[in-house]
Amino acid sequence: MKHDLNQKNFQHIVILTGAGISAESGIKTFRDHNGLWENHRIEDVASPEGFERDPSMVYNFYNKRREQLLSPDLKPNFGHLALAKLEKNFHGKTTLVTQNVDNLHESAGQQNIIHMHGELLKMRCLTTNEVFTTEQSFDGQTLCACCQRPNQLRPHIVWFGEVPFSMDRIQLELSNCDLFFSIGTSGQVYPAAMFGQIAKQNGALTVEINKDPTENSPFFDKSIIGKAGEILPPFVDNFLNS
Ligand code: APR
Repeated sequence: MKHDLNQKNFQHIVILTGAGISAESGIKTFRDHNGLWENHRIEDVASPEGFERDPSMVYNFYNKRREQLLSPDLKPNFGHLALAKLEKNFHGKTTLVTQNVDNLHESAGQQNIIHMHGELLKMRCLTTNEVFTTEQSFDGQTLCACCQRPNQLRPHIVWFGEVPFSMDRIQLELSNCDLFFSIGTSGQVYPAAMFGQIAKQNGALTVEINKDPTENSPFFDKSIIGKAGEILPPFVDNFLNS
């Protein structure tokens, strides 16, 4: 019974998304380009050591990503829209945990979102940990609003070696959910790579939707290969009509 993807069998869905859900909007994934992220080695632009070594390059990198995000051409795709529709129309609770730092789930209308790896439109004071929303570029010269000093602000992004945000809440949602989706993530970065198995151990039905098979595919109850923007709209409609 549990294996029937029929909405009346479920009360709480947890959805994990990764870079693949935003790929059809034109945002590059992390691992599909010879290990380079927008022509940079991931460890140079996504680690505390990289920031210490060359802060200007790191500020510049995230300023460019933010500019790209705010460009009028960048829009949520059919995958984001289908997930927002699922949340709006599902009779139970939906929690979306994303590894993405873009705001395309928000733009699509998704409400209950946890950004476990941070957000491009936020910056954080290194001294007070206060978080500010920003659409502007910032760097080492920018005065921090709380301490009025330069060299205090950093991107509010979780870098390698740092602990993802909201882990207690995510653990709770994983232990309470009865249906888990993993969408557009290669499953190579922990702890997110473990979420499917945690949900399954707690009794949830687990479903992966990804363009390519991943190392985790054998552990899911169902693995659907295809682009999120093509698979999700009919999948969500069928689920909601079931
Ligand atoms: N639809 C579905 N899946 C897709 C699509 C698509 N249109 N396009 C690509 N994919 C899949 C790829 O096949 C790949 O398996 O999405 C996955 C993207 O994997 P990664 O690039 O590794 O991205 P992600 O899993 O989100 O990375 C996790 O790594 O660098 C860190 O913090 C960063 O949040 C990021 C984390």
